[in-house]
Amino acid sequence: MDLHILDHRLRVTSISKTGLEQYTHPLIKLIFLRNRTRCKFFSLTETPENYTVVLDEEGFKELQPSAHLQVEGSTWLPLNVVSNGNASSSSQAVGVTKIAKSVIAPLAEQHVSVFMLSTYQTDFILVSESGVSLPLYYVCVCVCVCSVPHATVHPVLIPENQFCVMSLDPDTLPAIATTLIDVLFYSNSPKEGASVDQDMEYIKFFSFSLIDGYVSLVMDTEAQRQFPTDLLFTSSSGELWRMVRIGGQPLGFDECGIVAQISQPLADSDISAYYISTFSFDHALVSPFFSLFDTQNILALSIS
Ligand code: ARG
Repeated sequence: MDLHILDHRLRVTSISKTGLEQYTHPLIKLIFLRNRTRCKFFSLTETPENYTVVLDEEGFKELQPSAHLQVEGSTWLPLNVVSNGNASSSSQAVGVTKIAKSVIAPLAEQHVSVFMLSTYQTDFILVSESGVSLPLYYVCVCVCVCSVPHATVHPVLIPENQFCVMSLDPDTLPAIATTLIDVLFYSNSPKEGASVDQDMEYIKFFSFSLIDGYVSLVMDTEAQRQFPTDLLFTSSSGELWRMVRIGGQPLGFDECGIVAQISQPLADSDISAYYISTFSFDHALVSPFFSLFDTQNILALSIS
């Protein structure tokens, strides 16, 4: 397993729901007009609270400051694990589960706050530039057998909708442009503006990323139905994922160990999971091959 620090300097921002109109123009440019920007790392996630936009400094220049744009103060660097085909790992799990013990737990142990972004292709672990003064390479080579130090237990919410994690050939982006624009910018669902209460049964969550030329999409089955079936692809088993949203209050950016606390028990049970942090909350997408009841119990056991 090799851990790489990728050559992107990222900003983590959020656009308020009511301010989206003001940013439609730059966002369309960043999503569809790749040759008009030098942005190489772009991710946009809609949640009930806001739109989280994570992008490199080239892309960030496109976003004009305004009262609707919140910008996290630090620059974030993406780490990425490349498995070198080491057959010693018997795990078939995908996503954050694969790196929970080798990377996520050691970083939490070193009190490094991370910001996770799983995509169809890979898992990016963002660390704030100021947080990597520690000997990161040391952290990254050790396989951790420690328990994650963590005090705060955040409430979790498990909405009803099911999600798929998909990709498409970036050259076919124009073919889904109208649907994507509709879903991203005009899909005022009936739940829009609803407060995020704990008994939320359905969650608005849609994520698009275009990173180094690779497209990744996370959407629920309702959104998926609007896209042409022949262009988007997913893994051959075509799984649907259930979401565990972490956090009652916005999680902030300084706390460490949240991702570790969730991913460690999933790794212990070899349950695949993707993990997407947004400006306010974290979201784990948990494999459907385990019943939600199991997942809930595993998480409850690990955090109690
Ligand atoms: N920093 C947390 C951790 O190290 C994860 C990110 C939570 N914050 C957020 N805004 N989503 O586990």
